[in-house]
Amino acid sequence: MSFSEDVAKGLSGEQKKLPSKYFYDADGDRLFQEIMKMPEYYLTNSEYEIFSTKAEAILKAMGVNSGAFNLVEFGAGDGFKTKVLIERMLELEAQLTYAPIDISKDVLDQLEENFLERFPGLNINPQNADYFEALERLGSVSDLPKLVLFIGSSIGNFSRDQSIDFLKTLNTKLRKGDKLLIGFDLRKNPKIILDAYNDREGITKAFNLNLLKRINRELGGKFDVEAFDHYPLYDPEAGLAKSYIVSLKEQDVYIESCQKTFHFGAGEAIHTEISRKFSVAEIEEIAEKSGFVVTEHFFDCRHYYVNTLIELV
Ligand code: TRP
Repeated sequence: MSFSEDVAKGLSGEQKKLPSKYFYDADGDRLFQEIMKMPEYYLTNSEYEIFSTKAEAILKAMGVNSGAFNLVEFGAGDGFKTKVLIERMLELEAQLTYAPIDISKDVLDQLEENFLERFPGLNINPQNADYFEALERLGSVSDLPKLVLFIGSSIGNFSRDQSIDFLKTLNTKLRKGDKLLIGFDLRKNPKIILDAYNDREGITKAFNLNLLKRINRELGGKFDVEAFDHYPLYDPEAGLAKSYIVSLKEQDVYIESCQKTFHFGAGEAIHTEISRKFSVAEIEEIAEKSGFVVTEHFFDCRHYYVNTLIELV
């Protein structure tokens, strides 16, 4: 489905929603990079700490110095954290081809330029695609062993069933011995989680509302962005952070490319994103249900976050 069709469908249902993959246009990429630098957004810092302090152990468990391999990364973004791992891999003279996959062409171009500057001669093969297109193509990539990165707790943006479906499909594209390093944001004090999605400076608000601006720019939408607010919540029972855009008054908004007017009630919420938080038991269950075995968990010092290595046996 096109952006316009996804928007029309999402705004026509009983509960309005917009797919989160459309967050990442050039402005959205920039805002998300700012989010990752915020003190409240502990996810990036925690994962960066794991990669910086445990790279040797991670790479050893991944078996990176036993011949040529493909390093495939789903949702690579600007590659800020992956850089740490690649740097260590190259120190170990690992023979890798790096295939970063991202939905945003802008951020992939940035990543490629930046990585080639830092690691001249790196074999890099960026792919501008969403997860599911990339998954389809994965089987035909090459015969080399694969190490797959799915970090940043992007897996938390799937529902439980979606994450198992995704990993099951990934499983069918991989071979015995291929490995997968996944980043999971762990359950913790709900206040800490909520703050990560509700920073004081309003960067997260700008990021969420950029979705409406993007509809205005690309689809001829007539949203008065000031008449909407950002509303995050965290449900500790379900381990679920949810983000909404809320209409501050009753209003009608026309979107040219949909050739349709959408009605918003006062206080009506558009659901834009889920970010699931996990326990170690839940992680092990997801791995097992999708046909993998857990090799090792790598935690940050606060146990806010974990990178779990799973393997196809
Ligand atoms: N995928 C990121 C996450 O769930 C993106 C994100 C951060 C986000 N803050 C947000 C998405 C606020 C929507 C609203 O952590």
